[in-house]
Amino acid sequence: MNPEDILLPVAQVVEACREVEGIVASGTPVSPEVVEEAPHLRVVANVGVGYDKIDVAACTRRHILVTNTPGVVTGATADLSFALLLAVARRLVEADRYVREGHRRHWSWGCMWGTDLEGKTLGILGFGRIGQAVARRASGFSMRILYYSVDRPTPEREQELGAHYVDRETLLREADFLSIHVPLAPDTNRLIGAAEFALMKPTAFLINTSRGKVVEETALVDALQSKRIAGAGLDVFEFEPQIHPALLAMPNVVVTPHMGTATRETRLAMALMGADNLLAALAGQRPPNLVNPEVWS
Ligand code: 8YV
Repeated sequence: MNPEDILLPVAQVVEACREVEGIVASGTPVSPEVVEEAPHLRVVANVGVGYDKIDVAACTRRHILVTNTPGVVTGATADLSFALLLAVARRLVEADRYVREGHRRHWSWGCMWGTDLEGKTLGILGFGRIGQAVARRASGFSMRILYYSVDRPTPEREQELGAHYVDRETLLREADFLSIHVPLAPDTNRLIGAAEFALMKPTAFLINTSRGKVVEETALVDALQSKRIAGAGLDVFEFEPQIHPALLAMPNVVVTPHMGTATRETRLAMALMGADNLLAALAGQRPPNLVNPEVWS
């Protein structure tokens, strides 16, 4: 147990896991050292859909099952993406601070102008479960929805969601809001950097609830400081838990502490799904959400 709910350094995880047969990991790095030093380990049940902190290759080499919690995280993560989108469009955090600090509290013509959502283009980068759930929310706000993704849904699904596939460059050029929903993998690491910001509209906002390392943070800071883009809503950071200090100083940037799935309902569903995966594996059954099926076969 990690009762303090803090991220443990690898050495401590290694120490704690030497004798275990299963690990339930939520945010805990399961690195090759952990795997090598746990000779009885049979399953790593990640509580989260993204399993970039688990060295799956090292687990697979040692025939250790790895599982995750897809599906149950979709709605809450899409909600937070949309909350960040609305927050930057309507300057919610800035306005809240403004009122609390005792500035203007009554109606005035020029106070806190933001950006409409209606008719604006939402660019969704990565169109899996979460990207599609964001599209569903955006259609309720009468937005035009474009997406780019390596995997495409069926034409029927595209039509149902009112989403149009475009190439990556068109997505970057046309988005008024660019929302990222790709998993972190070698080919998505620093997917968005200076070259991508150069294509975006100066009025565009970036929303990221996926993984911080998908965006090169210094390039983001440069883009914001030079007004290449208009603002950002960020739940994740390249060097989490550190955040580039310039981001914290900008009123057009809204930051949250990697809390996409942090609702009572979703965290409970994730915990139960993680436990189900763990128990199935320990009982010698194929866990429902297996990430490395080659170990099973
Ligand atoms: C996890 C997440 O709680 O599901 C994910 O991928 O980002 C979060 O919901 C976090 O990654 C800890 O595992």
